[in-house]
Amino acid sequence: SAAEKGGYDHFMLKEIHEQPKAISDTLTGRISEDGTKVVFDEVQFPAGFVKDIDRIHILACGTSWHAGMVGKHAIEKLTRIPVDCEIASEYRYRDPIVSKNTLMVVITQSGETADTLAALRQAKEQGTRVLAITNVVGSSAAREADDVIFTWAGPEISVASTKAYTTQLTALYLFAGWLAQERESVGASEVPAILTALRDMPANAEKVLETAPAIQAFAKEWSSREHAFFIGRGLDYAVSLEGSLKLKEISYMHAEAYAAGELKHGTLALIVEDIPVIALVTQDDLYEKTLSNIQEVKARDAFVLALAWSGDQQIAKSVDQVIHIPKVNPFLAPILAVIPLQLLAYYASVARGNDVDNPRNLAKSVTVE
Ligand code: AGP
Repeated sequence: SAAEKGGYDHFMLKEIHEQPKAISDTLTGRISEDGTKVVFDEVQFPAGFVKDIDRIHILACGTSWHAGMVGKHAIEKLTRIPVDCEIASEYRYRDPIVSKNTLMVVITQSGETADTLAALRQAKEQGTRVLAITNVVGSSAAREADDVIFTWAGPEISVASTKAYTTQLTALYLFAGWLAQERESVGASEVPAILTALRDMPANAEKVLETAPAIQAFAKEWSSREHAFFIGRGLDYAVSLEGSLKLKEISYMHAEAYAAGELKHGTLALIVEDIPVIALVTQDDLYEKTLSNIQEVKARDAFVLALAWSGDQQIAKSVDQVIHIPKVNPFLAPILAVIPLQLLAYYASVARGNDVDNPRNLAKSVTVE
């Protein structure tokens, strides 16, 4: 009913707008009073384990897998523990290499995804410690994992996952920071600044939501197309994958996410006049590299919409349109950068007359293999 949707036309739009609060709820109680430490009382590793972990396997499906890719980057950067992030339906059938010092992290909004649960159960049989990041208290993942970090996103009704993803990212950044702090790793000194930036995230997410009218106008103009591309490097590539999945899932447009440096190895053949290319440019240390990839697609007359920091005056000279988002530490960019992409998928789906919250052929929770 309209009341359940809180005045929004669809649950997805409501859930997109709930993100500032969901992020804030996920942070609550997890930062020390002086703001310098991560508090994770719910994680109760056996004595010594936190320092012994020598490998982490992150398992998930779909959007949760995309969150895991950001988690891999964050954990490796702050702790230097090698992390593999894999699709659960692949992992469960490939005899993965684990030891008593492996930690498995499963990420699942519903806590009921069959393939993710199968990976969890396989790990437990092998004696691997499992930490679940889930949104549903009392779900199978929450009950069966050794440790649980809840994302406090509240119920997510729309099949297209939005606030679950940004709260998974929030939980993963906290967990990466916690690991670094407990292990006294290289990144431990960065934790206080990361926590400050995380605390500012709800207000910044609120500002990003103000891009909605510009995104809506772009979606109206471009959603009659059959194809779209998302490009980026590093964390921007991980977010591109999520933007592309979102667009496919609810607008039914064909979209591809490409690591920007990989275009010239095949995909550039598909870039022709007026193909929409959404370019993410939030990773400062990769800025020039991404810019040269943007020039590659512009040279083929693609239409480029860039997602860039506010204050980036240079980018407008190289692209057709720019969406600016408030500048934060690039390490945390995914939490903000995904929001315009969620809005793009939403407005494209509406423009194409689709059933936004219940896209064809898909279920909210995939409890069969
Ligand atoms: C995202 O928009 C999807 N509907 C889907 O990829 C989803 O993230 C996936 O099925 C995993 O679900 P889970 O997080 O509940 O395990």
